[in-house]
Formats: sequence, C-alpha cells, structure tokens
Amino acid sequence: MFVRELTYQGFRNLHPGQFEPCEGVNILYGENAQGKTNLLEACWLFTGSRSFRGSKDSELVQFGAEQARLSLQFTAAAREQEAAITIRQRRQVTLNGVSLPSAARLAGSFCGVVFSPAHLSLVKEGPEGRRRFVDAAYCQLKPGYVGALAEYHKALAQRNAFLKDTKDSGRLTDEQAKLLDLWDYALAAAGARLTLARSHYIRNLQPLAADVYNGLSAGREQMVLSWQSAVSAEGSAADIANRWLEQLYAARRTDIAAGFSTVGAHREDLQILVDDVAVKTFGSQGQQRSAVLALKLAEASLLQQVTKEPPVAFLDDVMSELDVSRQDYILNHIDGWQVFITCCEPSATLRATAGQVFSVKQGVISK
Ligand SMILES: Nc1ncnc2c1ncn2[C@@H]1O[C@H](COP(=O)(O)OP(=O)(O)OP(=O)(O)O)[C@@H](O)[C@H]1O
Ligand SMILES: [Mg+2]
Repeated sequence: MFVRELTYQGFRNLHPGQFEPCEGVNILYGENAQGKTNLLEACWLFTGSRSFRGSKDSELVQFGAEQARLSLQFTAAAREQEAAITIRQRRQVTLNGVSLPSAARLAGSFCGVVFSPAHLSLVKEGPEGRRRFVDAAYCQLKPGYVGALAEYHKALAQRNAFLKDTKDSGRLTDEQAKLLDLWDYALAAAGARLTLARSHYIRNLQPLAADVYNGLSAGREQMVLSWQSAVSAEGSAADIANRWLEQLYAARRTDIAAGFSTVGAHREDLQILVDDVAVKTFGSQGQQRSAVLALKLAEASLLQQVTKEPPVAFLDDVMSELDVSRQDYILNHIDGWQVFITCCEPSATLRATAGQVFSVKQGVISK
C-alpha cells in the first residue's frame, strides 16, 4: 500500500499544495508547530478512522476557512486508486469517484497504522482507549465490524435509557421486566459479536506483538496480551450470547439501582503484561513506550498478513525518544513498507536511512 500523492487545501495550518512521498521511508522534519503532525493526520483520515489526536472534524478545517479538501492518490490491491475528503461540519467522502455513505466506509481500502506520543495513553490510562484500539484495528481487517459496533452501542443506549427511567422505582412491573428481557437479548447478542471478534483479534495479535517486543527489548523481556471479559470467549457467538444473558440477568438488581448497565462488552479490557506484571501499573517509561509500539507494529503485521500488502506506517515523533538499537530494530522491521516519520531533527540512524527527506515550515512542505 503506497501513498502516491496527497493534495490539500484548507486543512489545519497547511498551505494549499501537493505532497509526493517516495515508496520507502519519508522523513518529515521541522521545528515545533510547523505542520508535521497535521500532514500525517491528513493522510491518516483516508483509513476511514477519526483523527488520531481525537480532534473533532470541524477542528481540522483551517481557521477562517469554510471547508478542507483532501485528495489522495494511492496504490492498493495492485491498482491505482483515488479518494477525496471534504470536511465541513462532517466529512464527505468519495472513493474512485463514487460517493460513500460515511467516512468510516473508507476502512479497508486504504490501510495504515499510526503511532503518536498520545498513544501512550493506550497503556497508561483506562480501558476505553484499549477497546478503541482493538475495535479500530479489527475494523480495518473486517470493515463490516463497524456495523456490529454501532448495533452494540445502540442496544446499550436503549437498555441504559430504560434503566435510567426505572431507577429508584423499586420492583419492576411484569411489563417492565419483559421490556428489560428484550433489551437484555439485544445487548447480549450484539455483545457476543464484539467479544468474539476482540478475543479472536488479540489471540492473533499476541504472537506478533510478543515478537516485536522481544526484538525491541533485545530479547530481555517478554510481553503477553490477553482479552479480559466477564464471559469466556470460547464457542460460538450464540454460546457467548447466552453467557452474556446470564450475566445481565444476574446484574439486574445492581443495574436498576445504578441506572445503567454495569456488565457487558463495554466493560472489557486488554491486559498487557511485561514479565508477568501489568505494564500499566509497573512498567517503566521505556517499557510502556515499547509496549505501545509492539501493539501498533503487530497490528500492522496482522493487516499485512490478511490484505497481503503492508499498510502505510505513520510514526509521529517516535524515534527521538528511542535509543539507537530500538530505532534500528523498527527500521528493519518495517523494511519494504511505506513509512512517514516526523521529527524535529533527523537522528544519525534516520539520516543513514535510504529515503526521502522533507522539511516542514509554517505549513509548507518542501524537499
Ligand atoms: N484548524 C486549524 N487551522 C489553522 N491552524 C491550525 C489548526 N489546527 C491546528 N493548527 C496549527 O497547526 C500548527 C502545527 O501543528 P502540528 O501539530 O502539525 O505541528 P508539528 O509540526 O507536528 O509540531 P511538533 O513538533 O510540536 O509536534 C499548530 O501551531 C496549530 O496551532
Ligand atoms: Mg507533531
């Protein structure tokens, strides 16, 4: 998968222009606040995901501009393709000239992985970010998963609205209990699909992530991933749905008192152990950074196995924080992929890398 050319207008601080990267390593360097991350973000949006900085669509439009327009020419599935994104309040997207119903539908056409310092929150903070990581990664593998996620959130919102209404009302009437049965079924069925997909994904990711972590730590440390759920992920979706149903039924009283659903797939988490202890609680800064990199590079390897071509790697401000042997390991690992690396000043390792160097200054990108 390769970006051939990105054209941008009215996007963040970037001056209208074109960017033609090479097929290998592209180094974007410049002082702080010049537009390096903005450029990665512009390319990243073509994966169908939201901004990796968590920005709202409207924040991507240049101050004072009415809209942002991005178009990307890329090679994927052995053919030249083109996608365009127009951002006003929300994104409008075309792929090879055809309008798509939502930006998320781009998922699977152009695939990438991104690592930015903000992703350290993946290991440092609460489970929500880890669920989002797994869900987003799985969406790129199986674009239809977007629908399963939407269905779960709808079922959860409906069950929660019902619980909020009946909170403090004491015993449920027969009619209310029947209604809650229905919400339980909906949530259990939708939740089973999530639990199955996520645990399956992590089982496949585990050996790849362990391998990268092993390489980053020069064989000194071991990383182990596992998907943590209140139910076992063994068996079929119907088996898992039955287990969720039991859990929901058992939690009914608690849920009615709380006014929301206290169990379900929205409470699952990815456990990351390094040398048998939780990296979130006990990991050093370097171990936490390596764990996130291992997750991201493994995500890319898995995408590559499935799509049979390497995704584009976006490494925002990563190299400067790693020692030379880790930088070398990463560059070797992604050999043959198209990579975008941002930094303030290219390190010796990066300068020695065959590739293209671009300077970014006040929103202008030049060779
Ligand atoms: N919607 C917008 N319109 C105009 N400018 C914006 C908009 N959003 C962000 N900017 C500006 O873009 C500038 C560059 O941001 P960017 O994050 O790309 O910098 P950077 O080169 O990656 O810097 P650093 O090395 O500090 O990470 C910032 O100064 C920011 O104020
Ligand atoms: Mg930046």
